[in-house]
Amino acid sequence: MLRSRIIGTGSVVPARVLTNRDIAKMVETSDEWIQARTGIAERRICGPQEDAATLAEGAAVRALAMAGVDPVDVDILMVATVTPAVPLPATACLVQEALRARRAAAFDIGAGCSGFIYGLAVADGLIRAGSARTVLLVGAECLSKIVNWKDRSTCVLFGDGAGAVLLQAQDGASGIRSTHLYSDGSAWQLLVAPGGGSRFPQSERVLQEGLHLIQMRSGNEVFRLAVRAMEDACITALKANALEPSDIDLLVPHQANLRIIRALASRLAFPEEKVVLNIDRYGNTSAASIPLALDEAVRAGRVQPGMTLLMAAFGAGLTWGSAVITW
Ligand code: UT7
Repeated sequence: MLRSRIIGTGSVVPARVLTNRDIAKMVETSDEWIQARTGIAERRICGPQEDAATLAEGAAVRALAMAGVDPVDVDILMVATVTPAVPLPATACLVQEALRARRAAAFDIGAGCSGFIYGLAVADGLIRAGSARTVLLVGAECLSKIVNWKDRSTCVLFGDGAGAVLLQAQDGASGIRSTHLYSDGSAWQLLVAPGGGSRFPQSERVLQEGLHLIQMRSGNEVFRLAVRAMEDACITALKANALEPSDIDLLVPHQANLRIIRALASRLAFPEEKVVLNIDRYGNTSAASIPLALDEAVRAGRVQPGMTLLMAAFGAGLTWGSAVITW
């Protein structure tokens, strides 16, 4: 059977570390509160020369090197991001130029923190339809540049980074087995950065009111919705593949909050050693979080041929989804 197989992974994070104690000097918070409520100890922050395109390029170079594939052989290049390097054109086009992936069709995926799972679904569809043989999918974010550093309820959560996977059409049992995507636009206002688009174009007012920055309403409600939605998406994925939770070797969840991940794992009866976690070091890197966690697990030798991986994400939109992969 023709499958989309991940043949390379890569990731990068900026060198600058921002600890909880650093943030406690900026807003009324503490290391204890942040660790207890989110599981985050530190996050990486872009320098002035870094942006979503430069991070995406770094992650992509590593994924291509692991796979031993020349950039010119990439048919499709997708960047999942909510923090594009420039409003126009797509960040994927800047990455295409940097990689000299001159044959690739390049475009961005905007699906909040679920962008990587959405990208996997698009890549898998294009590969299995015969429209592409080799797809480079990157999740890349510079959330530090759209975080409101005066808002303690959000500024502690986010970080910067990028992760990439290189997918290729291959016959056999390894590859993407399923993807399931969901959205609920009725709750779009829960997690927004409303300014700077065509509804509220960049203006003095947008800047003064900080409308270009991330705002989250009812973090508690987002928390509850995230657990329920990811659980539903995982159960649907397991059923679609006739799998039991015990058949899954590794859960690679979106890293938004350690308590969300633990609640999900407990509802699915996954022991913590089967869950890939790096939220303590990077915080929530939105569309980058799953490929960043995956790449770390691959390079640490935690992912072996024949293993079955379950991925689940939830984010702004609202959007959520799941994927099952045989490695
Ligand atoms: O990427 C996907 C989308 N995002 C998410 O999945 C995030 C989902 N939500 C969350 O992770 C959690 O709701 C938060 C981490 C954002 C907040 O944790 P919580 O346990 O839900 O806390 P809370 O919002 O109920 O706030 C509890 C208290 C409040 O004070 P009062 O009203 O009880 O006096 C907040 O003002 O904690 C206060 N608080 C803080 N205190 C110290 C909020 N942020 C902070 C802070 N430091 N940074």
